[in-house]
Amino acid sequence: MPKNAIPPIAASEITPESVWLSRRHWLQQAGLGALALGSGGLLGMDSARAAGAEQKLPATPNPEYWLSNKQTSEKDVSSYNNFYEFGTGKTDPYEYADKLQTRPWTITIEGEVAKPRTFDIDDLLKLAAIEERVYRLRCVEAWSMVIPWNGYSLSTLLRKVEPTSKAKYVEFITAVQPGNMPGLNDRIIDWPYTEGLRIDEAMHPLTMLVFGVYGKMLPNQNGAPMRVAIPWKYGFKSGKSIVKIRLVEKMPVTSWVKIAPNEYGFYANVNPDVPHPRWSQATERRIGDGFFAPRVDTLAFNGYGEQVAAMYAGMDLRKNY
Ligand code: MTE
Repeated sequence: MPKNAIPPIAASEITPESVWLSRRHWLQQAGLGALALGSGGLLGMDSARAAGAEQKLPATPNPEYWLSNKQTSEKDVSSYNNFYEFGTGKTDPYEYADKLQTRPWTITIEGEVAKPRTFDIDDLLKLAAIEERVYRLRCVEAWSMVIPWNGYSLSTLLRKVEPTSKAKYVEFITAVQPGNMPGLNDRIIDWPYTEGLRIDEAMHPLTMLVFGVYGKMLPNQNGAPMRVAIPWKYGFKSGKSIVKIRLVEKMPVTSWVKIAPNEYGFYANVNPDVPHPRWSQATERRIGDGFFAPRVDTLAFNGYGEQVAAMYAGMDLRKNY
C-alpha cells in the first residue's frame, strides 16, 4: 500500500472499547477531551453557528465502527459543507442554514411497507440507543473527512414499518423550506433533493441514520435534524434533512442522476478506478490537512470493501458507477 494511503479498516485499526473508554476517561480527567479526540474546538467560530453548540446528544462509542484515523476538526466538519439548498459555496450552508426550521419535524415512511407511519423526530431519537461511529466521508469532488457521527442503523427504523417483498429500493426525500433556503432560487436541482439506495444497501448495518455529530445534535448545515450516512458511497448519496422515506419497486431517479446521468450514477460506490468524466477519483484531499499536504490514495468502497463488496458480486462496477 502506498505510504500515505488511508489503510482499509482492519481489525487492528479498531480501538477496543475498553482502551477507548479508558483513554477518554483519562482525557476528560486531564481536561483535554475535545482536543485530543481530534476536535478543532470552537475557537474562531461564531458560537451561535458552531457545531451543535446548542444541545448535547449523548452517544455510546461503537467499537465495531471505529477508525483510529485523525478525525476532521469540528470546525471543518461544520463549516465546509455541501448543502445546495443554502447555496453552492462551501461556506454557504454555515452562513445561511441557521434559518432552517428543525422543529416541529416529522418523517413519513410510505410505499411498499406493511405499516406506513409518520414519526416525530423526537420519537426517532428515542427509538434505539444512540451510538458514536467514526466513518470516512469521501465526496465525489475528491475531498474527504473522518467524522464521529451519532445515530443508529437505518435498518432499525425500516424494520418497524415492515417492508413488503416489493420493496426493492428506498428513496429519501429531503426538506424544502421556501424562504429559509436561499439556494432554492438556483434551479440547478429540481427540488426537493432526493437520493436512493437498493434495499440491501439500506438494510446494511453500516448505513446509518444520523442525528448528531461530535456528541451534539447535528448543526443545521450538516443536515439537521436527521440525515443518512453511507460511508462506502460518495457523499452525495447521503441526503440531509430528510422528511420522507419511500420504499419502492423501481429504481428511483435521484437528483444527480437526473442532472447528469453520464457523470453520476445511482450506485456511486467510491471507486478509484472509475474516474469522473471531468476528473480522477484515484486520490483525495483530506480536509484540514492543508492545501499543500500530499493527497492520499482513495480506496475501493472507501475502505469498507470487506463489509460491502459482496453486495455487488457479479456486477460490472464500471457500468454501474
Ligand atoms: N443533501 C441535501 N439535501 N442537499 C445537498 O446539497 N449534498 C450532498 C450530501 N447531502 C446535499 C445533501 C453532498 S454532495 C455531500 S458531499 C454531503 O451531503 C456533504 O455532507 P456534509 O456537508 O455534512 O459533509
